Amino acid sequence: MKSNDKPIKILAFAGSLREGSFNKKLLAVAVRFLKDVQVDVLDLREVEMPLYDGDLEENSGLPDGAVKFRKRIGQADALVIATPEYNNSIPGVLKNAIDWASRPPEDVFEGKVALLLGASTGGFGAVRSIMHLRQVFRVLGVIVLPSQVTVSHAYDAFTEDGAMRDPEIVDDIQEACDELIALTRALKRK
Ligand code: FNR
Repeated sequence: MKSNDKPIKILAFAGSLREGSFNKKLLAVAVRFLKDVQVDVLDLREVEMPLYDGDLEENSGLPDGAVKFRKRIGQADALVIATPEYNNSIPGVLKNAIDWASRPPEDVFEGKVALLLGASTGGFGAVRSIMHLRQVFRVLGVIVLPSQVTVSHAYDAFTEDGAMRDPEIVDDIQEACDELIALTRALKRK
């Protein structure tokens, strides 16, 4: 980090609501590696929002949860998202939140850098969910890091206190976090 670098803000959230979520655990491992940056950890339960409904938007505007979610995204330079995989794709909760946040007038996603992580109990570790998230973020102008980290058989992946059992995955997470910070910093200097 150079002395005249502006501080970087990273918004981190999981695409799962449940308390014992493996993706919340995965996110917590990643957050420890976000050094020398401001980190805002969001639980999507804090920004609860209804299913997207065009009539609701037209009649009442964005719901409070969506307004708060957009604000947190807007304040960040980069995103770290740990997503589950539901039926080989993005969980509805996460997609719904992204859909609300993508509504005009502000383009809150454009130019953000994102690191995508995923944990699932299946053998493919949310890789298909991440693939679909990449497709969604392309149209929203999010610069998604080529690096990603997936955790399969998530019920075996963490100790009781939330540590990741496999040191290779921990190294991958650290490397990916370093890449995210380096790229975000480089883009912010421009
Ligand atoms: C799942 N799960 C799952 N797992 C997987 O590897 N591939 C899949 O396609 C699916 N599909 C799926 C659909 C639905 C509706 C549910 C509820 C679950 C299992 C999923 O990986 C598991 O529930 C994770 O624990 C979810 O992530 P969190 O909540 O632990 O972060």
